[in-house]
Amino acid sequence: MGDKTLKYARIIATGSALPERVVTNADLEKLVETSDEWIRTRTGIRERRVSNAEETTGELGYRAALQALERAGVKASDLDLIVVGTTTPDIIFPSTACLIQHRLGANGCAAFDVNAACSGFVYALGVADKFIRSGQTRKALVIGAETLTRMVDWNERETCVLFGDGAGAVVLEASDEPGILATCMHADGGYKDLLYNPVGVSAGFKDEPNHGVRINMSGREVFKVAVKTLDSLVGETLAAAGMHESDIDWLIPHQANLRIIEATAKRLKMSMDRVIVTVDKHANTSSGSVPLALDEAVCSGKVQRGQNLLLEAFGGGFTWASALLRY
Ligand code: COA
Repeated sequence: MGDKTLKYARIIATGSALPERVVTNADLEKLVETSDEWIRTRTGIRERRVSNAEETTGELGYRAALQALERAGVKASDLDLIVVGTTTPDIIFPSTACLIQHRLGANGCAAFDVNAACSGFVYALGVADKFIRSGQTRKALVIGAETLTRMVDWNERETCVLFGDGAGAVVLEASDEPGILATCMHADGGYKDLLYNPVGVSAGFKDEPNHGVRINMSGREVFKVAVKTLDSLVGETLAAAGMHESDIDWLIPHQANLRIIEATAKRLKMSMDRVIVTVDKHANTSSGSVPLALDEAVCSGKVQRGQNLLLEAFGGGFTWASALLRY
């Protein structure tokens, strides 16, 4: 159980998992009328991973979690909490968190999913931070896992070039050393029609390919709101932590579009060599994107212990969220 004297939630290890299959922009040129040049210049994406039938959200999340736990030296049975950010659960219920919990052998701890679309992982991290700060939880596993390509209409060039699959995970531990310093979470359901999947259990499915499951997106409008919203979000997060732009060592943004990432970096007066970019290799993996980028940054040696990281994300809802932490 938790200890109220321990103030912070600290990331003690990260992990990630990607599907085997790489789909390049050149591969997509064979499916729809597009070009590598168009995709690269508009989005920064060069390739993405696409999962096979066995590589479900739960499977990718499980692999990422196992790696994070091994690196942390934490036994699954010691976990008090598992939170999974996902908008593409394996099945409707039980939650993907419960499926992963059982495979890990962490049965008995609290486990649930958070659906905040692409902001899912950062939301989940914020939720786990609150559990740890409350003293109720000592060790938590937070996962962002998605198979968004299951929703992609491969005939629609406006969306099919943008998305990929993958998962990342972190193990959090209660600590008296900083840790997560500030988290912010927001949503505005008034923007639903700009980015949504039109069908579901209660609203019903359609007599269409893939039962009507698809991504509806007004790309240009999403782009504009994302840039504006992230601009104010990073200011809010810095203020909440009592920090300045110059205190941030690394920006680890949601990987949807390189131009959106560049706009946020500019707002923070950060050069792009202090920004973790994986959108070129992973495309938009929704909740998977931030923890995948974090894990890559840690494994490459870029992110070092004691540095300040700003994580942020934006997604369908609209939702937007951030976490400023000392790694
Ligand atoms: N290949 C080639 N041409 C394409 C294309 C593709 N894959 N997709 C769209 N086009 C065409 C459009 O049909 C349009 O043609 P037209 O001028 O003849 O009408 C043209 O390219 C420009 O389209 P537009 O939508 O204005 O492009 P854009 O510069 O806004 O870039 C996005 C499109 C989708 C890349 C960009 O708007 C974006 O990234 N938006 C945010 C999406 C996002 O991040 N969503 C997830 C949020 S979590």
